[in-house]
Amino acid sequence: MSDNTIGRFFAYVNWLFNPFHGLKTTEVYDLIGTTSLTENALYLNLGYWRDVDTIDEASEELVLLVAKRGAMGPGDTVLDCGYGFGDQDILWARNMKPDKIIGLNITKSQVGRARKNVADAGLEKSIDLREGSATEMPIENESVDLVVSVESAFHYRSREDFFREAFRVLRPGGRLVTADILPMKNSDNPFRRIEQWISWNLVAGKFNIPQDNYYLIPVYNDKLSKAGFANIDIESIRDDVYTPLHEYLSRERTFVDKLPPLAKMLAQTAFNRSADSVYAGLDYVLSYAEKP
Ligand SMILES: C[S@@+](CC[C@H](N)C(=O)[O-])C[C@H]1O[C@@H](n2cnc3c(N)ncnc32)[C@H](O)[C@@H]1O
Repeated sequence: MSDNTIGRFFAYVNWLFNPFHGLKTTEVYDLIGTTSLTENALYLNLGYWRDVDTIDEASEELVLLVAKRGAMGPGDTVLDCGYGFGDQDILWARNMKPDKIIGLNITKSQVGRARKNVADAGLEKSIDLREGSATEMPIENESVDLVVSVESAFHYRSREDFFREAFRVLRPGGRLVTADILPMKNSDNPFRRIEQWISWNLVAGKFNIPQDNYYLIPVYNDKLSKAGFANIDIESIRDDVYTPLHEYLSRERTFVDKLPPLAKMLAQTAFNRSADSVYAGLDYVLSYAEKP
């Protein structure tokens, strides 16, 4: 084993088993690398499962849901925050045909691979993927028609700063759409509350969700409103995300078999429990807002 491989192994063990692992978000994504749930692309989202049966379809359905909610189409300049490996931008460019998509992502290793994917698809003219943060956008005021963020805003430090920046870069009449992870309201049942606490903290700990982003839908609504947005609409789509994903992953071995042994063991522990228990603390929302 080279030093690099040994270092990576210990970093992985530290991330999986140490609740105080201290890794930055970019370091977590560097470790995950291209271990995507999907087979045909490198999506890193949990998918929207209403009318589909496989993770590849569900990942695409989620990004299409976001685009449709934002009425993405010809004439739009789109800003995509947290684009992963850029598969979503390629799908949107082909299907929704916006004039331009600019992407921001803080994980350098993903930026390089995503740019290559876009070049391989022959879409460099319409998709411009940059390294940069959704909380400090290197984008001019009022230059964008639609800001989207697919399963990424829970990471931002803070999500509130992202709302402020999105408002700044949107033209009047512009739209903001997020697919985002939130906590669930605490149950009155103390045993359920413990289950919710474990569920949220495991995910928040592994994926670096800052405490500043721990709030429910009504507060999400208030924060959008305080940033200046109007016509806000936030719906929970959790029933079309977590349970069907859990059932799929428990049934299909392809993803679990790709994992390194220790991660495989943890995944197996999760699959031995019900989705209701594993995801007890997690809501999942589709949010829409407009700049007046
Ligand atoms: C769960 S992945 C989702 C990736 C992609 N949207 C998808 O659906 O496959 C979260 C993404 O958010 C990015 N990210 C995290 N914090 C960010 C920030 N402050 N600004 C921009 N991107 C960020 C990560 O690098 C990663 O690409």
